[in-house]
Amino acid sequence: MSAVKITEGIYAVGINNPNMRVFDIIMKTDSGTSYNSYLVRGNEKTALIETCHEAFFPQYLENIKEVCPLEEIDYIIMNHNEPDHSGALAKLMALMPNAQLIASQAGSIYLKNITNIENLEIHRVKDGDTLDLGGRVLTFFFAPNLHWPDSMFTWVEDAKTLFTCDFLGCHYCEPYTFDTCIAYPKAYDAALELYYGAIFGPFSSFVRKGLEKIKALPVHPDFICTSHGPVLTKNGKLNEVLSRYEEWSAPSVNKIPVIPVFYTSAYGNTAKLAEKIREGILEAKPYAECETYDIIEHDMAQLHTLINRCNAFAVGSPTLNRDAVAPVWNLLAGVDAINSARKPAMVFGSFGWTGEAVGNIQARLQGLKMNVFGEGFKVNFVPTEEDLEKAKEYGKSFAQSF
Ligand code: FEO
Repeated sequence: MSAVKITEGIYAVGINNPNMRVFDIIMKTDSGTSYNSYLVRGNEKTALIETCHEAFFPQYLENIKEVCPLEEIDYIIMNHNEPDHSGALAKLMALMPNAQLIASQAGSIYLKNITNIENLEIHRVKDGDTLDLGGRVLTFFFAPNLHWPDSMFTWVEDAKTLFTCDFLGCHYCEPYTFDTCIAYPKAYDAALELYYGAIFGPFSSFVRKGLEKIKALPVHPDFICTSHGPVLTKNGKLNEVLSRYEEWSAPSVNKIPVIPVFYTSAYGNTAKLAEKIREGILEAKPYAECETYDIIEHDMAQLHTLINRCNAFAVGSPTLNRDAVAPVWNLLAGVDAINSARKPAMVFGSFGWTGEAVGNIQARLQGLKMNVFGEGFKVNFVPTEEDLEKAKEYGKSFAQSF
C-alpha cells in the first residue's frame, strides 16, 4: 500500500499485512491486518501519528516519503505504544532525530523500555492539551485502557477527524483504505466483533467512557482513523461501528444467578460428582440457572462467554499424569482475569492414583484472585453413594457461601 489522501492535509501512510493469521499469540486473524499510520500537515508543522510494526519499516518509509521528506516531520504522536504501532519507532527516530516525540505519561514510560533509546526525550501531554500545526490544532484526549493504560485519542477539529489507534479498529485487510469500499462486509463484521471481544471485552467500562468522549466532541467526526482496518467515514460504517461498540459494552446483569458446573470425565466418575454438585447448588439456590457442561461436548468460545458472564461456577477434572486435563486448562485460559476477581468458584474431581488436579486448579483460580471455596472435593476412583451425598452437600455449602 502506498500513501492515500484521507482529506485535506491528512494522509494514510501505513502498511497492509494480509498474511498475518495470529495476533498477540492468541487472536486468530483470518483477514490479516493493517498497521495504519497517518501524516497530518498544518501550514507550518507536520505530525506523524503512530508508526508501524518493525518488520515493515522499509515500505513504511517509502509511504511516508511519498507525502513529504522525513526532515519536514516535526512531531511523532504515539496514541498507544504496543509494538505493532511503536515497533518501527527506534529506526525512524534514528533517521529524524529532531522530531519531537509526543505521548501520554504512561506512554512515555513504555516507550523508553520499548525503544531502549538512552535519554529518549518525550513530550508528555495531559488530557485536553493542544498542539498547533499552523492553521490546524490537534487536541489530545486520554482514553485509558483502550487498549493499554497509555492510550489517548488525537482530534483534528477543522478536519473533523479523530485518531483512535486500536479503538473502533479491527484486524482486517483489503487493498482499500476506506470503509465504503469493503469487498467482504461479512468478514469485516466478524473481524470487528472478534477484535472487540479480544481487545476491549475486559475493558467495557473504559469503552463506554471512550464513546462518551467521542459524543462530547464539539462536532461529530467525518473520519475516524483507527490504526487497524479501514478508515471509518460518516458515509460508511462510522456510526454503525459506534453503535456496535455501544451495544457490546453495555453493562449486562443476570436476572437470576447463573452458576454453571463445568467438568470433564474419563470414566463417568467426575461426571457423577458434577451432577450431585449441581443438585446441591440448586437445593441452596432453587431459582438459579445451574446446568452441567461436559467441556469437550461444547463450543469453547461459548463456554468462555459463559464462564465470564456467570455469577459463580464449579469446575471438575480427573487427574491425568499429576495434573488436570487440557480441556479444563483451555476453559480457564478464557477467563477474563480483569473482571473475574472475587468471583466464587469451587473445584472437584475423581482421581485414580495421586489426585493433583483439584489442587492445581484451585491454585490457578486463586492466582486469578477468585474466591475459591474450601479445599475442593476429591473422590478416589468410583464415588460411593456416601461420596455422592457429600458432593451434593459440598455443592450446597458452596452455593450458600455467596
Ligand atoms: Fe494495535 Fe494494542 O495495539
